[in-house]
Amino acid sequence: MSQAWTGTYTVTAALPYANGPIHIGHIAGVYLPADIYTRYLRSTRQRVVFVCGSDEHGVPITISAMKAKTTPQNIVDEYHVKNREAFKTLGISFDIFSRTSLPQHHQMATAFFSKLVDQGDLILQNSIQYYDPTQRLFLADRYIQGTCPKCHFDSAYGDQCEACGTTLNPTDLLNPHSVLSQAKPVLKPTKHWYLRLDKYQKWLEAWTTQKKGHWKNNVYSQCQAWLDQGLQPRAVTRDLDWGVPVPGSKGKVLYVWFEAPIGYITATKIWATNCGQDWRPFWQDPRTKLVHFVGKDNIVFHCIVFPTMLKAHGDYILPHNVPSNEFLNLEGKKISTSRQWAVWLHEYLEKYPDKQDVLRYVLCANTPETKDSNFTWKDFKDKHNSDLVGILANFVYRTLVLTHRYFQGRVPSKHTESTADHEVYCQLQQIPQRVGTAITQYKFREALNAFMSLPRIGNKYLATTAPWASIGRDNQRASSILYTALQIVAHIALIGIPFLPFTCQRLSNLLRLPELYWDQAGRTDLLPAGHELQQPYFLFEKITDWP
Ligand code: 2FM
Ligand code: ZN
Repeated sequence: MSQAWTGTYTVTAALPYANGPIHIGHIAGVYLPADIYTRYLRSTRQRVVFVCGSDEHGVPITISAMKAKTTPQNIVDEYHVKNREAFKTLGISFDIFSRTSLPQHHQMATAFFSKLVDQGDLILQNSIQYYDPTQRLFLADRYIQGTCPKCHFDSAYGDQCEACGTTLNPTDLLNPHSVLSQAKPVLKPTKHWYLRLDKYQKWLEAWTTQKKGHWKNNVYSQCQAWLDQGLQPRAVTRDLDWGVPVPGSKGKVLYVWFEAPIGYITATKIWATNCGQDWRPFWQDPRTKLVHFVGKDNIVFHCIVFPTMLKAHGDYILPHNVPSNEFLNLEGKKISTSRQWAVWLHEYLEKYPDKQDVLRYVLCANTPETKDSNFTWKDFKDKHNSDLVGILANFVYRTLVLTHRYFQGRVPSKHTESTADHEVYCQLQQIPQRVGTAITQYKFREALNAFMSLPRIGNKYLATTAPWASIGRDNQRASSILYTALQIVAHIALIGIPFLPFTCQRLSNLLRLPELYWDQAGRTDLLPAGHELQQPYFLFEKITDWP
């Protein structure tokens, strides 16, 4: 397409593990912000690719398979499709939702690994590791359980105690046993490849310092804390049989956190091939902005480990930003997959098949931007009824009904401009800018609030100008008021797209609008006089029997 792009962006959203369904915490923290951001970029005529996919390797997936008495491949096949469909139904507009079990990805990751080995950025080191003598295999950290040395919880894992949250090494556990056989593991020497993070410490310090004030505080401070501790070489291979095989080392695979981020590049290449585009501008042009949306537990991998890999490799650009949020709680309690305390996206969508935008709205309004936030069904119902029904749908419906009642469903002409009208036109200039600025600063709550000032202003405008009172007395005035109110409605259809894409599409159909771009906002004739509108209906219906 020979379009005049204003810039190029590669936007990634963390690849979810394909061993379980997506819940609202994932959506609020990562996928919805990423989608709002990307939809905004597209509307501002940026060239953008938005990539995601399933993270299909790693020990938790082998454990899920073991528990379900099936193979890891069966598990990932099931959840890859489930999660892809759930995202699509919610309107998360990935250009590609790929998967890391694809042969193209294995090739990409293996080539990446081999290059770093050849360059000396990956080195082979001996280590001592727990081994299950009955199963005759080395045990990944998650395959070892024992008593936490800190809180004495008796089922802590080799990498972390889930009761007190302490990060552990397998050798810290008291009375360790193998999850596979319950046998007592023995320590045995093994060899692994290590990424020379220590070699890149100075470079990382200098590079991350440039991000101060630009990256979110939570992200920047987590990076500094890691750097302050001093980086050590980090193992990037595992003794496991599920994953990307390490070339020339039988029984070893690449650590999932080494290969999964390479999946962003593989996914971009596959997408580009499928649509006849060149992938290189998205990963190799230094003017391109690479933005990773991630959960807070992913920060170190995207701000320290992956940038080191990209820098060492040398052919790729580095992240421009890594926006990351805090966590969303549910009814005041931490969302937990193991305790089944979550609102699962696919279940919500099955129960409320046409209410995607309601969930998008409520989650965006509660984005855990600077601290953990809380989702409650009461708040969900209140926001739906007061904001979407009471403010937004109400304003749109009143304006359209009045236009049909008094002007045969055609946009009436503007004859006069009062102070109130002038104020509205100023706001139509300013609000889209405020929304856009907030989105580019990753302040999604602020952006949504600024967007909602359009229908708020609209309701106030109708209340103060009362066009119905002018009918018969001063038809030109009534006509001018509805003309102005309709321009607000058209702006709602345009500026609301990142947040409420389904509703804005329905509204655009009602208004019979062509496809609009953000730079058309502020115009006073998005809907020209004489333009015919469709019969109105209420965009959101009041609901009293929500859960
Ligand atoms: O935390 C997670 O769900 C990981 N699967 C995220 C991986 S992001 C990327 F590196 F692929
Ligand atoms: Zn503990």
